[in-house]
Amino acid sequence: MTINQDTLDHLLNRRSVSIKNLQEPAPSVDDIKTILKAGARVPDHNKRVPWYFITFEGQARQDIAPLLREAYKTHDPSATDAKLDLESQRFMNAPLVIGVVSRIRQKKPQAWEQILSAGAACMNICHAAHALGYGANWLSQWYSYNDHFKKGLGLDERDNIAGFIYIGTPTCPNEERERPYLSKIVTSWSPDVKLNKGDEMYDKPKYDAPEAGFELPQ
Ligand SMILES: Cc1cc2nc3c(=O)[nH]c(=O)nc-3n(C[C@H](O)[C@H](O)[C@H](O)COP(=O)(O)O)c2cc1C
Repeated sequence: MTINQDTLDHLLNRRSVSIKNLQEPAPSVDDIKTILKAGARVPDHNKRVPWYFITFEGQARQDIAPLLREAYKTHDPSATDAKLDLESQRFMNAPLVIGVVSRIRQKKPQAWEQILSAGAACMNICHAAHALGYGANWLSQWYSYNDHFKKGLGLDERDNIAGFIYIGTPTCPNEERERPYLSKIVTSWSPDVKLNKGDEMYDKPKYDAPEAGFELPQ
């Protein structure tokens, strides 16, 4: 058995980069292709390809501004002009934005599984971007749930936005954030065992957790 330590290190250390720390340069054409290929290489029950991708590069991030502006008016009819201007510039927050749309193709497999596959596509896109040295951040924000925006973009009733992945070059080293205690959420099953569902800790709106709580239950 060969251990791929680089991959393990990547999986165990990757984390999102705040969009305020994402700057030019954007991924190159070849890098974008690599990122999209990774996004399209995910488990997908019955090979339905239940997702598609929309890239916003360069001027396109500005060209989407009028749609974001109009959509925000429906999101908050009392928004000031200054707020509308601000919201219209959302896609300028990173050099590259990739929209991942979950599209239900058929009755089978269950819609839930098709949606999960779109989530996997989002994560693979983040992994590939980070592996190439870029920073990435998976965001939904208000416009992912805005009907005016979705319609204007060309989505229909079979589509849901799984997320927008903001990608760019990180301007500073990343800070770690807390991680879950595995002992609270992992169960080594045996008959009559009580499942560790994490409720006592993670049902709370706020909880104490160390930066890395990765120990397994005894
Ligand atoms: C589906 C989905 C949507 C998200 N939308 C937002 C968002 O709109 N705004 C936000 O601040 N974070 C959002 N996040 C969280 C960011 O991705 C966050 O940076 C990430 O959870 C950090 O985790 P990491 O340190 O493991 O990379 C979202 C996460 C997911 C999975």
